[in-house]
Amino acid sequence: MTTKLIDPFLRPISYLRVSVTDRCDFRCVYCMAENMTFLPKKELLTLEELDRMCSTFIGLGVEKLRITGGEPLVRRDIMTFFQAMTRHLDSGALQELTLTTNGSQLERFADQLFAAGVRRVNVSLDTLDEEKFARVTRWGRLPQVLRGIDAAQKAGLRVKINTVALKGFNENELFTLTRWCAARDIDLTFIEVMPMGDLGNEDRVGQYWSLDDLRDQLRQEYRLTDLPERTGGPARYVRLEETGQKLGFITPLTHNFCESCNRVRLTCTGELFMCLGQEDNADLRAALRNHPEDDAPLEAAIRDAIAHKPKGHDFDYSRQRADGQVSRHMSHTGG
Ligand code: GTP
Ligand code: 5AD
Ligand code: SF4
Repeated sequence: MTTKLIDPFLRPISYLRVSVTDRCDFRCVYCMAENMTFLPKKELLTLEELDRMCSTFIGLGVEKLRITGGEPLVRRDIMTFFQAMTRHLDSGALQELTLTTNGSQLERFADQLFAAGVRRVNVSLDTLDEEKFARVTRWGRLPQVLRGIDAAQKAGLRVKINTVALKGFNENELFTLTRWCAARDIDLTFIEVMPMGDLGNEDRVGQYWSLDDLRDQLRQEYRLTDLPERTGGPARYVRLEETGQKLGFITPLTHNFCESCNRVRLTCTGELFMCLGQEDNADLRAALRNHPEDDAPLEAAIRDAIAHKPKGHDFDYSRQRADGQVSRHMSHTGG
């Protein structure tokens, strides 16, 4: 029997996030500069290589696979990859196959995702106002995303909305978003904006709104009870006593959650990043390509990388750096 992946701080690694493309059809102002240059497509791992990478991780004990990007559903033929991963769900090796998406292509793909074994989808949505949506995504169309969310629910997918808390942008939508999700039986998680990647002229520090403050605002209308449950990701949850609704909070800045980290992230070019907030990475592509018939070198490279996983990140706005504290963009490592 193969030994599972355990990092130097005795954290079992069971969650792999895979960015299948750095491209996105939006340019959210906290995520990318407007004039991003994307990688030439020939540098991306092929779908067959992605399959081999993921299958090797699953063989080493990864039980949860989250497909991300950029926007994963803009990658050509990506459904073929989801369909290929179904075999790991069928065998019981993989417990969850899921994705994080901006929702723009969900209307088209929801049924196929469900058929491939996906049961949950996380959709990024920072505002319910059409004009603001176009502004934050730089040109996205809200109705298209809302149709995607509807299609996902109709297909049988559980939907979770990710809302990045943005100062002066969606503060005044806190209650609207909360009620909108409750009315549709959609889960909602708020996220603190992380200082990753150069944003051009955008003021990153000015965007930051702490979730401690957001929670205080919620307390003006609701009684909040902390819940012990976790979904295998970094979110912590509360229940709103008046309505029974559950809300999630991802707080890399105010309440670091690194001690229970269970994940690593693979970029679309085959580098493995051990921590979102650190630059340490290992080039798995070489191990993969140089040994087309033998997975042992790839397995060894994965084990070696995980033996060097750092303890955690140290995101911090007090340094008042407008540029990214981590130079790469979130879309490169898949969030
Ligand atoms: P669930 O399975 O629903 O719990 O999802 P998740 O929170 O693991 O994934 P999702 O892609 O929805 O991520 C939500 C936010 O959490 C994104 O902004 C991610 O960048 C952030 N996030 C996920 N994992 C980590 C992590 O290890 N460290 C930090 N700092 N942020 C993370
Ligand atoms: N900080 C926090 N969240 C971010 N996302 C993208 N960039 C950032 C950032 N700098 C979010 C997206 C999506 C998730 C994968 O990450 O909105 O919901
Ligand atoms: Fe884990 Fe790094 Fe994320 Fe912290 S920042 S939770 S150590 S991946």
